[in-house]
Amino acid sequence: MTSINQNYLELQGSYLFSEIAKRRTKFIQENPNAEIISLGIGDVTRGLPDAVLKAMHSAVDELAAPSSFRGYGPEQGYDFLINAIIENDYKARGINIATNEVFVSDGSKCDVGNIQEIFSENSIVAVQDPVYPVYVDTNVMAGRSGKYNQETKRYENIAYLECTAENDFKPSLPDRKVDIIYLCYPNNPTGMTLTKEELKVWVDYAKKNNCIILYDSAYEAFIQEEDVPHSIYEIEGAREVAIEFRSFSKTAGFTGVRCAYTVVPRELKGLDAAGNEVLINDLWNRRHTTKFNGVSYVTQRGAAAIYSAEGKEQIKSLVDYYMTNAAIIRDGLASLGLEVFGGVNAPYIWLKTPNGMDSWSFFDKLLTEANIVGTPGVGFGQSGQGYFRLTAFGSRENTEKAVERIRKLSL
Ligand code: MLT
Repeated sequence: MTSINQNYLELQGSYLFSEIAKRRTKFIQENPNAEIISLGIGDVTRGLPDAVLKAMHSAVDELAAPSSFRGYGPEQGYDFLINAIIENDYKARGINIATNEVFVSDGSKCDVGNIQEIFSENSIVAVQDPVYPVYVDTNVMAGRSGKYNQETKRYENIAYLECTAENDFKPSLPDRKVDIIYLCYPNNPTGMTLTKEELKVWVDYAKKNNCIILYDSAYEAFIQEEDVPHSIYEIEGAREVAIEFRSFSKTAGFTGVRCAYTVVPRELKGLDAAGNEVLINDLWNRRHTTKFNGVSYVTQRGAAAIYSAEGKEQIKSLVDYYMTNAAIIRDGLASLGLEVFGGVNAPYIWLKTPNGMDSWSFFDKLLTEANIVGTPGVGFGQSGQGYFRLTAFGSRENTEKAVERIRKLSL
């Protein structure tokens, strides 16, 4: 028989959100009349904005006639979308990004998962803890994590940057040499952010220590406060050290449609075995063109429509809707005396479980007693133990109902 990639055997359990779905399904099978409210995986619930729908419909019609039909498109994305991204997401904020630095893809999960392929398997990776599990698991698959330690419940070769209430969920700089640092802001799962000055510390550190920052900014559209940076490239010098990931999933309801983009500046360099500098942008372009055939034309037309005047207005009301949900959860739980974090510049509310309950026990309590599905904090890492995540992506009705159900629990 063919040997398998042994690294896969180092993966622990199943992927967090599959495990939650499994438990939810089992509960529904045993309690078919339970009216479940899902505030677990960060999946959106509103329909696609009208501007997006219109653009997608007319793109479908274009595909009907040979004269306007599109087959394979550019793997990196169509110019109309790349230009709209650069104009609106960067130039409008005084940031210069070139067209060959933007790579349109079918999702940030894929991009943050795939990006590690272009770095040496000996690279040392640092992640925030708690962390979006994809960063860790994809490095385990690549053989970069080392062994899993059953006692510490951590991988030996990964540097974990703890984020807890004690440090206001702001990670300290690594205490050993690392090569790749994953930062996610606004943060999933804690919903917390850094100021520009705090982010600058990371950019300066990366420059000084020859690290690359993989900056996951999938929740950028939810930023409400003035002093929160929207892009890592607002920080001087970031073009030399950072790759940025953005997504249309949560912003425009694209979790099922699938579209995102990654920015890889031409200043960003790595070393080959002989010590020569190599452009990371060239490598990512090579990887992208070899393994990916581009996002569908219809989807890209839909994504570009969010940058129209009509689209921008509709996106804003979508974001406002979810952020009002966030405030309802945040204020509702705080009024019960629970310690809550996030939910101000991000659609996630991170709470301390009551009475020191562990995360999975609180998950079971919410599921069985209130029929609410959330996400156990420990599923994002050891520093998430004793915490719990709720999303603001439900309907208003369900969000209000969920808070009322929690109010009735004896906590
Ligand atoms: C989450 O719930 O953390 C996200 O929805 C997962 C994802 O975007 O892949």
